[in-house]
Amino acid sequence: MKILIVNGPNINMLGTREKSIYGSETYESLVAFVKDACAENGVEAEFFQSNHEGAIVDAIQEALGKFDGIVINPAAYTHTSIAILDALKAVSIPAVEVHLSDISKREEFRRISYAGLACVKTFAGMGFEGYKMAVQFLKDYNPDL
Ligand code: DQA
Repeated sequence: MKILIVNGPNINMLGTREKSIYGSETYESLVAFVKDACAENGVEAEFFQSNHEGAIVDAIQEALGKFDGIVINPAAYTHTSIAILDALKAVSIPAVEVHLSDISKREEFRRISYAGLACVKTFAGMGFEGYKMAVQFLKDYNPDL
């Protein structure tokens, strides 16, 4: 099984940005953590991070025929991007939405998730652990791969 892990804008700033919300670990340590989780589950992983909406749309489109699952934290685009929602719908690859923080308990504008409408599951508010749960969920979702 091959999974694409997509992270949106400012996730590359982990460890520096709003530490009280996102913690002090870096994007590199997130990648290392998720790589381990994938290895434990016998899953092949590829990572993509961008601060640009169109680049994320391109990455989702290019996943077609190459990946069996997508783990996505669209970050701020969660709450604004119909283009990312449409890209996820276009490829129909089972996708799981992840947020480090609990978006349901923050500002009102973070409560809507467009990307989430095309995802089979959401994990929010569990920090790095949410990504691991997403990988395990996709593995169970597709037991034949
Ligand atoms: C986030 C939550 C979003 O509201 C925010 O814009 C982010 C990160 C999270 O992982 O908790 O950048 O997706």
